[in-house]
Amino acid sequence: MLDQLTGHEDPHPIYERLRAQGPLTRDNGVLVTTSHPLANKILRDRRFGVRFADGSYPANASLLPESFLELDPPDHTRLRRLATPAFSPKKIDEYRARVEKVADALLDRDEFDLIADFAAPLPISVISDLLGIPDADTAEFADYGALVAASFDSGVTPELTNANDQVLALFDRLIAQRRRTPGDDVISSLVAAEAEQRLTPQEMVGTLVLLLVAGFETTVNLIGNATRALLGHPAQWELFKAHPELAPAVVEETLRWAPPVQLTSRIAHEQVDAIGKDEMVTLLIGAANRDPEVYPEAHKFDVMRVHKPEHLAFSSGIHYCLGATLARMEGDVALRALARRMPGLRQAGPVTFRESVVIRGMKSMPVSRS
Ligand code: HEM
Repeated sequence: MLDQLTGHEDPHPIYERLRAQGPLTRDNGVLVTTSHPLANKILRDRRFGVRFADGSYPANASLLPESFLELDPPDHTRLRRLATPAFSPKKIDEYRARVEKVADALLDRDEFDLIADFAAPLPISVISDLLGIPDADTAEFADYGALVAASFDSGVTPELTNANDQVLALFDRLIAQRRRTPGDDVISSLVAAEAEQRLTPQEMVGTLVLLLVAGFETTVNLIGNATRALLGHPAQWELFKAHPELAPAVVEETLRWAPPVQLTSRIAHEQVDAIGKDEMVTLLIGAANRDPEVYPEAHKFDVMRVHKPEHLAFSSGIHYCLGATLARMEGDVALRALARRMPGLRQAGPVTFRESVVIRGMKSMPVSRS
């Protein structure tokens, strides 16, 4: 059934058909779960990993350098630990005022595309800044991110190969520059770790590309999906405008209801109940987040909902999104800015959607200030 999914249509009818078959079912021979408790359990179970039991990686169309998202412990633990300090809640909090300035500057306009002119440039500028990438290079990264996201579904294209070469060359330049003159950015701290032989040069580039891509191809859709949900639920849009302190609640409910990352997968390293050794399970985050056993009226978008347990939009267990605090802050800042600066915001033309089944969101949404 999942092979019938296209990026632009509502996936929930198909998710519900799979749910009706039970918490763990087979789709085209592949194990799939729509259950929140089961997906959460698998994500937290150390008998599962992202690689096969012998450490090899599933045939994979990606040409991105290997990153810790694709590694099991102990390498995962070592590399994630090196990147973690840059994303601590304290660091992200200190950073908030800068994000507010960027969001505000982007909203100095009347007619614009919510995605191209607001939801995309904000995270790109934020992650570029955090990584210490000069502004001049951020447009290049935007195209690169879009090509990488497309490759999750359709494999590697010549355009991606080309963009990938350029981004790797840019990181090489930046790394060489930080070796000479260290700064207060993520690249500099990884360069220092490399000097102490805590990671290899390839691992360093893999980490940087992961941070770059994970940082903007997802957050753009959090901002886009939240705005669309609010405009589609006028009473909640009014409520939010009257109570901007609800921003974190809007962010959480968007992450549950329309998660930017719709699925991930895990491989059993040994037989676990009905799951054989080296069998892969697809975890449908988008379906788990609407599991009626966990969330009453799960298909309803309701910003006043109590989120217990937490949705799986940021995954769970050892690969829990490293950028979750940053993404939440960016979503919070972006939505408050929109509500304050554009209380009359309205859709001004037809929306188009991404083709991707993994990353859900809009390609474009024309809007107008009034
Ligand atoms: C991992 C979602 C924003 C960095 C993940 C995973 C998900 C996710 C689902 C885990 C995948 C798995 O378990 O297989 C999201 C969403 C975001 C977002 C929905 C925005 C709304 C960010 C940001 C960054 C970031 C802003 C910062 C650079 C990472 C990293 C990992 C990760 C480094 C790998 C963690 C690991 O393997 O240990 N993200 N992410 N993400 N995310 Fe995010």
